[in-house]
Amino acid sequence: MEQKSDLSRLELVLAQYRDIPGSLITVLQKAQAVYGYLPEDVLEYIAQSLNIPAARVYGVATFYTQFRFQPVGKYFIELCKGTACHVNGADTIARTIREDLGIGDGETTEDGLFSLKYVACLGCCSLSPVMMINGETYGSLTSAKVRDILSQKRKEAGADV
Ligand code: FES
Repeated sequence: MEQKSDLSRLELVLAQYRDIPGSLITVLQKAQAVYGYLPEDVLEYIAQSLNIPAARVYGVATFYTQFRFQPVGKYFIELCKGTACHVNGADTIARTIREDLGIGDGETTEDGLFSLKYVACLGCCSLSPVMMINGETYGSLTSAKVRDILSQKRKEAGADV
């Protein structure tokens, strides 16, 4: 197996849920919160620890769209491609993001800072076009506004180092 995740980071979660029946989805959610996605070795470790066949763990994890199997950037952008956002210029926003970051749907920048995913209606159509970054909503987007937001995030990331 190529991946080597620090499995000890999962111990607290497993200790808490090991004996609670039906807790697989909660454990997967917590594991994703720890690692940012669900690496293969983590899935296998969860299967072993909860005494559930690995095939079942994979089956459940792949059934739900909330789970990711690839690492994502520090900033996870969800760009709405629902009808209202589409009508109000989501494609222009997608183009701006591509020009600015060089990424499209499902891609991550080489520096690992940004990932982009196109999503269906985010439930705030009156603010269209809309995107979310790490769960925070940004509405009434224009190309200029998007460039400002992305540049702000880059600065924040620089300040974090
Ligand atoms: S269509 Fe984009 S928020 Fe509803």
